[in-house]
Amino acid sequence: MSKTTVDVEQDVEQAVRDRYAEAAKKIERELCCPVSYDPKLLEVIPNEVLACDYGCGDPTRYLRASDTVLDLGSGSGKICFLASQIVGPTGKVFGVDMNDEMLAVARRNAPLVAQDIGYSNVEFHKGKIQDLALDLELLDQCLKESPVHSAEELSALESKIKELQRTRPLVPNSSVDVVVSNCVLNLVRPEDKKQLFSEIFRVLRRGGRTVISDIVSDEDVPAELQQNPELWSGCISGAFREDLFLQAFEEAGFYGITILERQEEPWRTVEGIEFRSMTVAAYKGKEGPCWDQKHAVVYRGPFRQVEDDDGHVLKRGIRTAVCGKTYGIYSEEPYRSHFELVPPRVPVPLKEARPFPCSKGYLRRHPKETKGAEYRVTSEAPASCCAPGNGNGGCC
Ligand SMILES: C[S@@+](CC[C@H](N)C(=O)[O-])C[C@H]1O[C@@H](n2cnc3c(N)ncnc32)[C@H](O)[C@@H]1O
Repeated sequence: MSKTTVDVEQDVEQAVRDRYAEAAKKIERELCCPVSYDPKLLEVIPNEVLACDYGCGDPTRYLRASDTVLDLGSGSGKICFLASQIVGPTGKVFGVDMNDEMLAVARRNAPLVAQDIGYSNVEFHKGKIQDLALDLELLDQCLKESPVHSAEELSALESKIKELQRTRPLVPNSSVDVVVSNCVLNLVRPEDKKQLFSEIFRVLRRGGRTVISDIVSDEDVPAELQQNPELWSGCISGAFREDLFLQAFEEAGFYGITILERQEEPWRTVEGIEFRSMTVAAYKGKEGPCWDQKHAVVYRGPFRQVEDDDGHVLKRGIRTAVCGKTYGIYSEEPYRSHFELVPPRVPVPLKEARPFPCSKGYLRRHPKETKGAEYRVTSEAPASCCAPGNGNGGCC
């Protein structure tokens, strides 16, 4: 079969596996997209790891101390070793890759990095990122002990796989603070991409976030380019169209989806289609019931109105009613800087709250509702406001 026209469904994954097995041993300049990482953090990372830099962005810039991080398609381990230093000794970093050669490079360098930084918080595991429940090393072990020679044995293996996914998941549900990835999602087969986003959502804890750097295109990639395994494994054919990349997060149930970085100049152009790196963040935790605890928010602008991922409409300057859950969400990133928060004067306990009609789109909150109908206080300006020397030159 020709190397340039193959049945993509059969060959994409094998093409990716072969290409990165080679790229783990010999640097592939074609796969390199210049990225500037924090030079201080690079100092402890061995050359063998840095030589296999096949990333297109740096999601580690958005990590914090103590985060538990999962890196999808960890390759030679560079993103994990950068993350390891940012999350520090109280954080944890897990890298997942399906390629034995890449895992070998990452694993043999992990003790060298740990020795330099003074602690060890990184582990590498073999798995496919579209099925983070299946530990491929456990599966390899099962196959070694019970090789498959017949249809009956294949059925038994399929049952075993389900059992492993259920009883010994590689990444358990809700176990991760941040899922990161650098230039890998585009390599996953088209028919597996929906499950890939569901898996990212599954493994994140409520309140967790994902930060993904990947290659996106400005136009649809035509079928003939998609059938070229070289372009597939080279991060071109499987690139998301940029708007569909964001839509995939939305469809998986994320909120607050934000473009953090978008390369101005394309990394490559093929037949007039531009391919560039984009880094996107998305958050988990909007699911669940809505209760009215008398919260309100005021959208600061600059737009006349905006709509969030639950369909709430926020009009500039208007005191808008929100449920307790939405109020909590707006109190944190990525929304916090866009809102004035107006809590109820007297907190309403959850057991006294009524269901909130979140689906109604837009509801004004009268100030009396926040303050309570009985509130009739008259107060003086605080003394400190008009005190001489407070820098205000007198109040009002
Ligand atoms: C372009 S490289 C990026 C490596 C690394 N993130 C970096 O920044 O250098 C892609 C990596 O993803 C791995 N990979 C591709 N598809 C995968 C999949 N479906 N499951 C797990 N790993 C995958 C490859 O083996 C390879 O190591």
